[in-house]
Amino acid sequence: MQFSIKHLDPATARTDCLVVGVHADGKLSAAAEQVDRATGGLLRKLAKQGDLKGTVKQALVIHQPAGLKAARLVLAGLGSAERALSTTEANRVLVSVANALKGMPLTDAVVLLDDLAVDGVSEAWRVREAIKTIDELTYRFDQFKSKTGKGKSTKAGKAPQLAAVTLGLAGRQPHAAEKRAVAEAEAICLGRRLTRDLGNLPPNVCHPSYLAQRAQQLGRETKKLKVTVLDEKQIRAMGMGAFASVAQGSDQPGKLIAMEYKGGKAGDKPYVFVGKGITFDTGGISIKPGAGMDEMKYDMCGAATVFGVMRAVVALKLPVNVVGVIAAAENMPGSNASRPGDIVTTLSGQTVEILNTDAEGRLVLCDTLTWVGKYKPKTVIDIATLTGACVVALGNQAHGLYSNNNALGDALVKAGQEGNDRAWPMPLWEEYQEQLDSPFADMANIGGPRAGSVTAACFLARFTRDYTWAHLDIAGTAWHSHAPYKGATGRPVSLLVQYLLDASGH
Ligand code: BES
Ligand code: MN
Ligand code: ZN
Repeated sequence: MQFSIKHLDPATARTDCLVVGVHADGKLSAAAEQVDRATGGLLRKLAKQGDLKGTVKQALVIHQPAGLKAARLVLAGLGSAERALSTTEANRVLVSVANALKGMPLTDAVVLLDDLAVDGVSEAWRVREAIKTIDELTYRFDQFKSKTGKGKSTKAGKAPQLAAVTLGLAGRQPHAAEKRAVAEAEAICLGRRLTRDLGNLPPNVCHPSYLAQRAQQLGRETKKLKVTVLDEKQIRAMGMGAFASVAQGSDQPGKLIAMEYKGGKAGDKPYVFVGKGITFDTGGISIKPGAGMDEMKYDMCGAATVFGVMRAVVALKLPVNVVGVIAAAENMPGSNASRPGDIVTTLSGQTVEILNTDAEGRLVLCDTLTWVGKYKPKTVIDIATLTGACVVALGNQAHGLYSNNNALGDALVKAGQEGNDRAWPMPLWEEYQEQLDSPFADMANIGGPRAGSVTAACFLARFTRDYTWAHLDIAGTAWHSHAPYKGATGRPVSLLVQYLLDASGH
């Protein structure tokens, strides 16, 4: 999808659909006034008639509005003209606009931004969020619908695809910050679409070797990206006993994938991202119950997020060094699978008693986190669909955020807030560590039923003492389980790209 921003006259804009904001109480802003005049007072008549309410969430569609060059007019409610909208309200307005656009057979649209006044944010914010919301809600994943079967041949499937959206300003030229926001949002959307596509792929297609191929493909697109893939033999030979113990249960070989982006100076310490890439999590010998197990194809969404971030970084040509690392394996109960009670030695030298083979994410991650120490990283952020307990704690709204560094934790909270992709701090206190005690090894891989997301993070913390680190538990945020939005969300690509934009001084 193409996005742009420009100064334009709503009365003469030639488009499939023009979107104009309208306040409650029948008050018309300058831009709405222009539309009202061009249409012979249509907005005032609709308000008087009671159809046009101007409340947040209303998106009234008018077809073939006389006097305009637009084939359709959407009147988007903005609430009271007396005060600016909160970011939450503004996001609601954008969602209803995006849903209205999605419901019509359009190839292009013009969305006037003049009257979307939002409290406490920069003017770039509404540009970025308008683009992100429209792109998010018009995303489709239909590559597995056959041409003749139910799906692509339905009316909705055949409908023209919205391909270009112009953000219009009736009152002035766009500022430089707003033009930059278009490019930033486009890069975030590009990355997020890749993340969602990879997440939505079925697990018989998207296995560790597939992820490795996709990384190599990305590496061929730009000279600035160097891709390395280590196979399962090398993983074991290097001493990654925990990682190998997960991969060994499956016929699909595990892979450790590294994508090194060099946009900064040779000596600049890199920002490192580590993604959990369990392409399917059966639980292993500690097998999961059958209901809803299909959702464990999303257990590679941390890895998919790393792909999305790298894709955005390449698109933005960010002047920093970034390394994306993926720990890819399939957690299966094969005849060579690890057993509860097995003890493995990690790359760090610490030993782990595997009490539950379903706590596999931390096993592939702990060795990978030790391995990335070789990059002498500026920061390391891992992203993982790590615990069901995180979903209990925070639901589907916030990522669980853990960090051994307050400045990094604060930067991630801020970046999430900025782009409506929020993370919330959780404790990494020493007192939780004893739940991981094992009588036989240095630690167990589970910490009991209490504070399950915290003890998983505490486990990882034992492997990240040498650098500045944060962990995002995205178990509740990486995908939607139910219609109408069922599927991968692409979170937290927006948060992480914003973090890099902030860190690189944009
Ligand atoms: N991938 C799961 C976590 C998960 C479960 C994410 C449900 C999203 C929805 C992870 O590998 C896992 O199985 N974790 C266990 C840990 C437990 C055995 C300590 C869990 O959360 O039940
Ligand atoms: Mn598991
Ligand atoms: Zn898992």
